[in-house]
Amino acid sequence: MTEDNKAQADIGLIGLAVMGQNLILNMNDHGFTVACFNRTVSKVDNFLNNEAKGTKIIGAYSVEELVQLLKKPRRIMLLVQAGTAVDNFIQTLIPLIEEGDIIIDGGNSMYKDSIRRAEELEKKGFLYIGTGVSGGEDGARYGPSLMPGGSEKAWEHIKPIFQKIAAQVDGQPCCDWVGPSGSGHFVKMVHNGIEYGDMQLICEVYHIMKDVLKLSNDAIADVFEEWNKGTLDSFLIQITAEILRYKENGRHVVDLIRDSAGQKGTGKWTCIAALEYGVPVTLIGESVFARCLSSLIDERTRASTHLKGPNVQDFDGDKKQFIEYLGQALYASKIISYAQGFMLMREAANQYSWKLNNGSIAFMWRGGCIIRSVFLGNIKTAYDKNESLENLLLDNFFTDAIHKCQQGWRKVVATASIYGVSIPCLSTALAFYDGYRSKRLPANLIQAHRDYFGAHTYEPLENPGTWIHTNWTGHSGNVTASTYQH
Ligand SMILES: *[C@@H]1O[C@H](CO)[C@@H](O)[C@H](O)[C@H]1NC(C)=O
Ligand SMILES: *[C@@H]1O[C@H](CO)[C@@H](O)[C@H](O)[C@H]1NC(C)=O
Ligand SMILES: *[C@@H]1O[C@H](CO)[C@@H](O)[C@H](O)[C@H]1NC(C)=O
Ligand SMILES: *[C@@H]1O[C@H](CO)[C@@H](O)[C@H](O)[C@H]1NC(C)=O
Ligand SMILES: *[C@@H]1O[C@H](CO)[C@@H](O)[C@H](O)[C@H]1NC(C)=O
Repeated sequence: MTEDNKAQADIGLIGLAVMGQNLILNMNDHGFTVACFNRTVSKVDNFLNNEAKGTKIIGAYSVEELVQLLKKPRRIMLLVQAGTAVDNFIQTLIPLIEEGDIIIDGGNSMYKDSIRRAEELEKKGFLYIGTGVSGGEDGARYGPSLMPGGSEKAWEHIKPIFQKIAAQVDGQPCCDWVGPSGSGHFVKMVHNGIEYGDMQLICEVYHIMKDVLKLSNDAIADVFEEWNKGTLDSFLIQITAEILRYKENGRHVVDLIRDSAGQKGTGKWTCIAALEYGVPVTLIGESVFARCLSSLIDERTRASTHLKGPNVQDFDGDKKQFIEYLGQALYASKIISYAQGFMLMREAANQYSWKLNNGSIAFMWRGGCIIRSVFLGNIKTAYDKNESLENLLLDNFFTDAIHKCQQGWRKVVATASIYGVSIPCLSTALAFYDGYRSKRLPANLIQAHRDYFGAHTYEPLENPGTWIHTNWTGHSGNVTASTYQH
């Protein structure tokens, strides 16, 4: 066979961990011919003889062979561990591929790495895509949410495959072009941050139901199940109900799990980006810190015998009513979290001159991924109505929703505080809301402090854009400690 006769596969995939295998099987199901490779070549045989038996999937035993198996322009997708493994495979591929060929990184790469790689590859005439892939193993197998960004010329070549294998909602794929290099992985990172926030919010209302209302796991599961029929309808609410009901040997497994949460880093990256671009993404921030606090389990155990909470009597209010308030608090906080996430994407888009399609981002998250929900359909609708909406909270649908929820939300935050239940996300969301809707905040006093001790000057309200210094003490000498730089 000549080399070109061998070129029969639509796409090549490197990395046969579960996500890789499942994406390959998904592509195969949709009629695409996939060639696959794993550095440990026994994995290739293993896959071909088991999961991939009877399919059109082709195994390659070297990167060279994989490249030769591909139709042009070649499409090569990496599903390997983020970091140096991606760089190493790119370096291996460079001498083997031709101008116009496309390398796609489907791992959880840091967006700045994707920007760097795209620049490097584009200079050499190759095309590069960094794509978010969400939905876990099941998503990869039966329809993930895909968030590709990078070399725009590559999009027409991967679109048919990506949009076919992605989750479909109302006949539409949860995959669209995100934007220039780095944007796909940035959007995926924000998705993961939002996922942290959604999970922590669910934990906080669970905590209140458990420790303030003293409901059983099954009763709490009933509440989540009920919520899953309304505006909160989402994958995470649904699995929460299932988890709370799950028993082994007559015991609820959820009660047997050590309360120390792990993390892999994408939540932290979201917070770092928020700090870097100066965007108040407070809810995701608190959700990451909540995991950090949870992991100080030994320290908490010692502190628990020293530090007292409030002295309160058992909850004697109307539980049914309060559960309704909890639902409102959860919903309102969720709106805040997504609004903050879109604020962060807006700022990153400004920094990198990306033009992000807000509505299609919401739709990419509508199905397939962990944060999939009916709610994301409402966000899509909001941006369809007004693509340049300044903030989600300003869309009529969400403004009304927040207005309807706020009374219950405030009662929940107050009650949890009175009962001494830690609710970092529910309360920071409310603090953000009250700050965001304030024409005037007390930062005038901060500016006065800074001018008093550091002569940093301030803008007079009546003359913004000009900067003045006040001689606050009226006595001689250097009260202005100009050596301080705060
Ligand atoms: C090879 O497959 C294993 C799992 O079977 C996976 O952990 C690894 O990331 C893959 N690596 C490469 C470089 O192909
Ligand atoms: C997305 O929304 C932001 C405001 O949140 C806006 O600045 C930006 O232009 C919008 N994107 C597009 C493509 O309209
Ligand atoms: C769209 O949103 C922008 C920014 O929030 C606002 O100024 C504009 O009035 C809105 N347009 C419509 C038609 O509502
Ligand atoms: C502040 O005002 C006092 C009293 O008028 C004066 O003596 C002093 O020099 C001023 N200090 C500065 C730093 O301008
Ligand atoms: C005040 O600070 C200035 C500049 O830092 C210095 O030259 C001056 O000697 C200081 N005056 C007194 C009274 O400390």
